[in-house]
Amino acid sequence: MPFELLATDPSSHARRGRLITPHGVVETPVFMPVGTQGTVKAMHPDELKALNSQIILGNTYHLFVRPGMEIMKEAGGLHAFANWDRPILTDSGGFQVFSLAKLRKIKEEGCHFQNHLDGTPMFIGPETSMEIQATLGSDVAMLFDECTPYPCEAKEAEKSLDLTLRWARRCRTWIDEHRPQTGGGAQQHFGIVQGSVYQELRERSARELVAMGFDGYAIGGLSVGEPEEDMMRIAEWVTPHLPANQARYAMGLGTPPQVIELIARGIDMFDCVLPTRLARNGTAFTHEGMMNLRNACYARDFRPIAEDTHPLCQGFSRAYIRHLVQAQEILGLRLISLHNLHFYASLTSRARQAIDQGCFAEFRAEVVAKYKSTPA
Ligand code: GUN
Repeated sequence: MPFELLATDPSSHARRGRLITPHGVVETPVFMPVGTQGTVKAMHPDELKALNSQIILGNTYHLFVRPGMEIMKEAGGLHAFANWDRPILTDSGGFQVFSLAKLRKIKEEGCHFQNHLDGTPMFIGPETSMEIQATLGSDVAMLFDECTPYPCEAKEAEKSLDLTLRWARRCRTWIDEHRPQTGGGAQQHFGIVQGSVYQELRERSARELVAMGFDGYAIGGLSVGEPEEDMMRIAEWVTPHLPANQARYAMGLGTPPQVIELIARGIDMFDCVLPTRLARNGTAFTHEGMMNLRNACYARDFRPIAEDTHPLCQGFSRAYIRHLVQAQEILGLRLISLHNLHFYASLTSRARQAIDQGCFAEFRAEVVAKYKSTPA
């Protein structure tokens, strides 16, 4: 089994685990920085390692459109191309086609679209997505799914889920028929639970994917505009149907309290653009909430962003970083990205420690009370 369940918290459903991949072991719960184009924006791989980033996320859609799979094959896969020797998880493409491509059409066979760069007509279906991710050589490949939009009537959500399940069966067949291309089964494949805000659909989605048998399971279609209570309810509906000894991943999430509340509901893996995206507009995560470094109140504030910021950021004051942001100097966004990624890495590392030491309930209460503010 590629996942070991080490401990479960007695006060909640929080889990300590270990995902075993060809590029190393990932201690869970884990936060995965987003490296859409094969790079976590503005970060050197050595910096990511210094930040204790155990695994990063890449995107099928972006890398398929550019540089394309011919170059990726010649490079020998994404690890070699990006000079990153730790684990990589790749998303399957459908979600990004939906949010980025022009004139996209979802059909039974897959997604037809014009790419967002030069409008060239392209296609990704379940088999194409599996093949692209095999070429990328990611440690974990996601199944090709349709992310159901929100809000969505029950009938529409059911149609969308049924398509995702038919695509999952086609992915399963492709995986079974192409073992040599996936390192003889070394690449893991995670199914994605959909079903919008409907309990019956979410539960059926989980049950049918588990019956097909994948290496891990994700919850998709979250953070698409639904209230936070729905996000938590969905996790509560789904997790009882997932095998305890396999990894669980909530896609595209979340704020610090959301991450902790989902860990409490039995989720092991997270990815989110917030730490890097907010860094680029001058916003830092702190234990007290968000700090907008463009704010005039930091002009003469010569303290570091936080006492427990990363050593790489320790010598830089809020005033200096504010100046860099105002002057649009690249170092400003790099320093805040470093700080924010460190914040998320230490949030999950403290969660792991709390589960190990049997004090997750206290840790959860402290985090939720502290980080009340969420980004606008
Ligand atoms: N990223 C965030 N949400 C989703 C989803 O529902 N599906 C996929 N494939 N990626 C996502």
